[in-house]
Amino acid sequence: MIISASTDYRQAAKRRLPPFLFHYADGGSYAEHTLRRNVDDLRDVALRQRVLKDMSSLSLETELFGEKLAMPIALAPVGLAGMYARRGEVQAARAAANKGVPFTLSTVSVCPIAEVSAAVERPIWFQLYVLKDRGFMKHVLERAKAAGVKTLIFTVDMPVPGARYRDAHSGMSGKYGPIRRVLQAAMHPLWAWDVGIHGRPHDLGNVSDYRGQPTELEDYIAWLGNNFDPAISWKDLEWIREFWDGPMIIKGILDPEDARDAVRFGADGIVVSNHGGRQLDGVPSTARALPAIADAVKGDLAILADSGVRSGLDVVRMIAMGADATLIGRAFIYALATAGEAGVAHLLELFEKEMRVAMTLTGARTIADLGPDSLVPGSLHHLS
Ligand code: FNR
Ligand code: LAC
Repeated sequence: MIISASTDYRQAAKRRLPPFLFHYADGGSYAEHTLRRNVDDLRDVALRQRVLKDMSSLSLETELFGEKLAMPIALAPVGLAGMYARRGEVQAARAAANKGVPFTLSTVSVCPIAEVSAAVERPIWFQLYVLKDRGFMKHVLERAKAAGVKTLIFTVDMPVPGARYRDAHSGMSGKYGPIRRVLQAAMHPLWAWDVGIHGRPHDLGNVSDYRGQPTELEDYIAWLGNNFDPAISWKDLEWIREFWDGPMIIKGILDPEDARDAVRFGADGIVVSNHGGRQLDGVPSTARALPAIADAVKGDLAILADSGVRSGLDVVRMIAMGADATLIGRAFIYALATAGEAGVAHLLELFEKEMRVAMTLTGARTIADLGPDSLVPGSLHHLS
């Protein structure tokens, strides 16, 4: 099969992965309405075709926090990415660095910060949650600093984890989870050999590093459930602000009021996000939320957006609606699961080509040229 789009990578990943891993990445929370709307609403944003404008020179470059990006894309933090390919976070970080875009390491990655940052020259971004164990937070922030991380993404839309019913069905969680996962691995020998056996250790690298002993993957869901802190408030973030001198981005903003609070707090950026439809089902898609947030805070801080981005055309849509850059989550995970570093490199190449075509045919020579004029007037009406 010739793989030519992120939807093809999704199909290929589905064949290769044990179902518990495929569904953990592919799924959302509750009835998955928001997950579907993320993709559908974005796809329905109509680009405005313009012609005969001499589009022979085009630049996708942009700058964020003093860092050059070859295109306005960063890889999103994805927990357990190291289960999708052998030492998966290292492979994805390499592909991103070679392509000139940032890779974000999740708190709950398989590979610890030091392993990933040692593998690439470009500084990685690091993502942190507010956790009950402030000692752990301090520990990972120190590790991140020591590893040369400058940009911190602080995820705030997970004071409690949303229910992922697919995980219970797939064997990712639940009483018979452990035996089901072993059986599923046995039925997927390519994955079992490459990642299951040679991709070890399979633990939460950053947590093991803090505890000084390996954490079993069994602990994953339990650890998340037990450690997220529902008491989180803007006050808690002040502590981080003092501790962290690099750019700080707040991830999980979906409302203009919260975006204004992020400006008041002094954040350097926000990620307009509903966590890829994995938290509160029923909240708006980011395509729906983004324009009002951009109206409220554009220019006051960097606006990143994610959730539902499956192609370079979607990146162009998000930017036309007011984002400065986008994160991509599942799109790169499917490619990573299918073909490791080469898969992610190829996916980024596809995104770049798709963006070039979209910019050429909307008459945008630079990222700064993309804006409301790049969309068909009224094309956002279906979202309001
Ligand atoms: C995530 N996401 C996420 N976010 C975060 O801040 N920390 C994390 O550890 C994770 N883990 C995670 C695991 C998996 C399997 C997925 C799919 C997502 C959310 C992620 O950063 C991003 O917001 C969404 O993936 C964006 O939506 P799309 O691009 O997947 O539609
Ligand atoms: C998730 C967490 C880990 O979305 O952020 O699964």
